[in-house]
Amino acid sequence: MRMRFKPYARPELLACDFHVHEPLTHGGHWHETYARPDQPWHLELGCGKGGFLAQLAPRHPDINYLGIDITDKVLILAKRKVEAAYAER
Ligand SMILES: C[S@@+](CC[C@H](N)C(=O)[O-])C[C@H]1O[C@@H](n2cnc3c(N)ncnc32)[C@H](O)[C@@H]1O
Repeated sequence: MRMRFKPYARPELLACDFHVHEPLTHGGHWHETYARPDQPWHLELGCGKGGFLAQLAPRHPDINYLGIDITDKVLILAKRKVEAAYAER
């Protein structure tokens, strides 16, 4: 499905403290970006709207999650979904 350009996505993601703004600078050092770097690390390539991350991350604080997607059109939805899931919890 083709998604519309979301002009608010980039500024909102840049203001988000769990969005990684400069991912290339973390190559080989991803664990260090987490509060508990010794925990297992789960990566979702192509996380889309964040449906899995929003379900899993709040239930498993013993795991460090990272979702990657190529477009901020869906990342903004993932960001909001994850925030809502933590707020609900
Ligand atoms: C079918 S969706 C899956 C979303 C989610 N994983 C799920 O199962 O609900 C695939 C996602 O992969 C992303 N994607 C496609 N190519 C990609 C790439 N080269 N790098 C990062 N993400 C990519 C798309 O933008 C899309 O959001």
